[in-house]
Amino acid sequence: MALPYDRPPREKPVARIGRAPLGEGRERSGPAERKSLAPRSATITVMIRAAFAAAKSLKRDFGEVEHLQISEKGPGDFVSHADVKAERTLRAELARTRPDYGFLGEEGGETKGDGRNRWIVDPLDGTTNFLHGVPHFAISIALEREKEIIAGVIYQPISDELFWAEKGNGAFIDTPNARSRRLRVSGRKDPARGLIGTGIPHIGKGDHPAYFAKLAAVTERTAGVRRWGAAALDLAFVAAGRYDAFFEFGLAPWDVAAGILMVKEAGGVVSDIAGQPYELGGRSLLASNFNLRDSMVEILSKA
Ligand code: IPD
Ligand code: CA
Ligand code: CA
Repeated sequence: MALPYDRPPREKPVARIGRAPLGEGRERSGPAERKSLAPRSATITVMIRAAFAAAKSLKRDFGEVEHLQISEKGPGDFVSHADVKAERTLRAELARTRPDYGFLGEEGGETKGDGRNRWIVDPLDGTTNFLHGVPHFAISIALEREKEIIAGVIYQPISDELFWAEKGNGAFIDTPNARSRRLRVSGRKDPARGLIGTGIPHIGKGDHPAYFAKLAAVTERTAGVRRWGAAALDLAFVAAGRYDAFFEFGLAPWDVAAGILMVKEAGGVVSDIAGQPYELGGRSLLASNFNLRDSMVEILSKA
């Protein structure tokens, strides 16, 4: 299917990920164990492998969530040992094959690299869910090249859903039941039929009265609003056509870098809530299918 921009030269596809069928004693650790039906570049393969490596420890820690050593980073915003461990794994895995690339991670901050390539990583998006035993969280990895996001992976270890996208090559999902299905945003035009994702500010964060005015306007005009607590997955859900739109204030680059590419590669649009270009770390973000964008801007701007 034609994409709404020129295709840049493709990276040479490498051998597809996949191993022999599971034998006795071998544990399935994620969709990497299944063959991808869509060709993946070497870069996306590296990112997926890193995500699976980090997911192993996250899954173990999630199983023992009540025993985790937790230290408070700020009200309602905890940093757990699981975050830090997962980020260490991601950093090491990504550096093994791309030693020159820079790295920006939520937990460990920035490491300068070759000045051209930079990983932008959230090792655990949905920390509050994780710490409360709610199985909705993800690992998010993006690759920025010359200030542009060119590849993204979002992996939900519990549902075993892998979302991935490469600039110019589309966005895909691998699940236990579907292999490399191309993602497309929904086609809904009428906000009254739209399901909208959002992030509600919590204690110590954001302008609550201003946010709730906008939320009220959205609830009055749409079929429903969801707050699931992991922005990376919210964006992946827009890309997959599950949500028709998503908006939130105050998101960090690691929350959204991979998801923004996914939405765009699935045929959607990303801007701020006024319809202006979104810059990583910008004050507000709106992602939607193309048909709904103007209505969402109108609803959110008037409130
Ligand atoms: C948070 C989640 C949440 C969003 C917050 C983020 P974290 O990331 O994405 O959905 O509402 O703004 O900070 O802290 O779980 O990585
Ligand atoms: Ca996050
Ligand atoms: Ca996080």
